Amino acid sequence: MILVTGGTGLVGSHLLAHLIQNGNSVKATYRAGSNLDRVEKVFNYYHKNGSELFRKIEWVEADLNDVPALENAFEQIEWVYHAAAYISFDPKQYDLLLKTNVEGTANIVNLCIVNKVKKLCYVSTIGTIGKSLNAEVANEENEWNDQHVNVYALAKYEAEMEVWRGTQEGLPAVMVNPGVIIGPGFWETGSGTLFTTANKGYKFYPPGGTGFITVHDVVRIMVALMDSQIQNERFITVAENLTFKEILLKLSFLLNKKSPKIQLKYWQLEILRVGDVLKSAFTGKKRSLTKKSIHSMKYRDAYSSHKIKEFINFEFESLDPTIEYSCSHFLKENL
Ligand SMILES: NC(=O)c1ccc[n+]([C@@H]2O[C@H](COP(=O)([O-])OP(=O)(O)OC[C@H]3O[C@@H](n4cnc5c(N)ncnc54)[C@H](OP(=O)(O)O)[C@@H]3O)[C@@H](O)[C@H]2O)c1
Repeated sequence: MILVTGGTGLVGSHLLAHLIQNGNSVKATYRAGSNLDRVEKVFNYYHKNGSELFRKIEWVEADLNDVPALENAFEQIEWVYHAAAYISFDPKQYDLLLKTNVEGTANIVNLCIVNKVKKLCYVSTIGTIGKSLNAEVANEENEWNDQHVNVYALAKYEAEMEVWRGTQEGLPAVMVNPGVIIGPGFWETGSGTLFTTANKGYKFYPPGGTGFITVHDVVRIMVALMDSQIQNERFITVAENLTFKEILLKLSFLLNKKSPKIQLKYWQLEILRVGDVLKSAFTGKKRSLTKKSIHSMKYRDAYSSHKIKEFINFEFESLDPTIEYSCSHFLKENL
């Protein structure tokens, strides 16, 4: 039996739909406040009998920091996909990021070892790939340097260390390091906020760029790695390296909004950052623009997926059909 953590998120829900459609027996973790309707919605995007398939998931309530609940979730489990994570770039939330992403991953790794799980697939991020100097394309061998790295990436890097520790203790594991993941259904959280932002029709776009991938490719790669003999390797998973201008142009066109025309200057980003600090102080909302995120916009980061293409002979799908599909659902669901 397979266990999926983070089954109520963008990646987890698409992974569940794929696994269940292919006849696997699957347990998934959720929390007291999780939105299971959103997962059922995702199943219905892709399958006529989506709700019927959705009901085949065995849900287990388990927070990543609740070891007894996780022990219960691990009963009869042979394969584990660990996609749950807390996503925030707010330096004030560093402790929560460490608690959820590092301590939580250590719990998953320990339970995999105790339960003699056959293989763990951990979802990391390109944020943990060392930055390239001189605008070179980054690969898995880039040296890690935590200077200028945001709190989310710092915690995800430490979480990777927990997975590597597990491999030293005999747990076979594979890891994916996706770029920004594009997919429908999660408009208020994580990468889904790209759609919400583009829908505001701002005139401005940020400088810089990064790697992108569809959620379907992330899922296909995770499953292929789990089905393979490969173990104890990590893989950058990026289909295309785009500037933020390029991605926002695509989204604004499909959302029928005016396209952003003016690149934000660094001093303007600084003013926005101060505004973001004040907004967070008055509303208690998470900060979205930090010194580290502004620093990262100075460069157009680019990533090579050569390794995954070579190891499993993988061909990435184009981003465009998923962007179009996601935008059409965004419009339908946000009338
Ligand atoms: N989206 C991206 O662009 C992107 C890019 C690179 C890597 N990643 C990585 O991909 C993975 C999946 O991301 P996503 O986009 O699917 O994120 P998401 O939509 O925000 O989903 C996060 C999932 O983690 C769960 N979770 C959070 N805190 C938890 C806790 N304390 N205990 C148990 N579950 C908890 C959430 O449960 P609730 O529903 O209860 O909140 C949800 O199921 C993460 O590891 C993320 O770091 C994402």
